Amino acid sequence: MTVQDDKRAAAWAAAEEVTDGMVVGLGTGSTAAFLIARLADRVSGGLRITAVATSLATERAARDAGIMVVAFDDLAEIDLAIDGVDEIDPQLRAVKGAGGAMLREKIIAAAARRMIAIADGSKRVAVLGAAPVPIEVLPLARAFVAAQLESLGGSARLRVIEGRSYRTDQDNAVLDCVFPDRPDLAALATQLSQIPGVLGHGLFLSEIDCAYISAAGVVTRLDR
Ligand code: 5RP
Repeated sequence: MTVQDDKRAAAWAAAEEVTDGMVVGLGTGSTAAFLIARLADRVSGGLRITAVATSLATERAARDAGIMVVAFDDLAEIDLAIDGVDEIDPQLRAVKGAGGAMLREKIIAAAARRMIAIADGSKRVAVLGAAPVPIEVLPLARAFVAAQLESLGGSARLRVIEGRSYRTDQDNAVLDCVFPDRPDLAALATQLSQIPGVLGHGLFLSEIDCAYISAAGVVTRLDR
């Protein structure tokens, strides 16, 4: 049993919660890729769904797999969002955004009547905080925001990939920020949102209603 098998098992369990006629928010990342593949199978078997995507990569993958994807622009509410996580604690609070999609992921999670997290067992933690919190930043504000994060006790690093500043689907920069003192997360989330120039962050403290986590082939369902 590999990590990939566990990602697939968690994603397939969540895919069973998708029913005919739903509008489904599709997450981003390697675990969400298994979800997309499973839903594509079910669609080819007759399931009718409409999807919205949390990233351009997910939109392409879902369309290529034969899932109907619509623009989120005109939707205020969707039925179900299913997405991966970087860390998840026993209260179903999570850190997301290693793939850089946390802003769209947060909007789609907020619009969803229900959100399911899918993960392999390595993502399960007792206390959040080992994974950096990704913060999407307007590029011109990045030094200012980094300084503000330092004043909150964080240590921020500009995300750089192949020698270039990473850009999100919205063409913004990402600061990955570690908070060594493990602050109160609810207060931190509020403080992050109040920094001018911060467009979104990867703390998902209240969005997740249910999680399927697979470890060594055993899928566990956790409910809030
Ligand atoms: C992307 C995300 C992903 O859901 C998260 O990084 C998990 O990815 P993976 O399933 O590849 O481990 O938040 O922004």
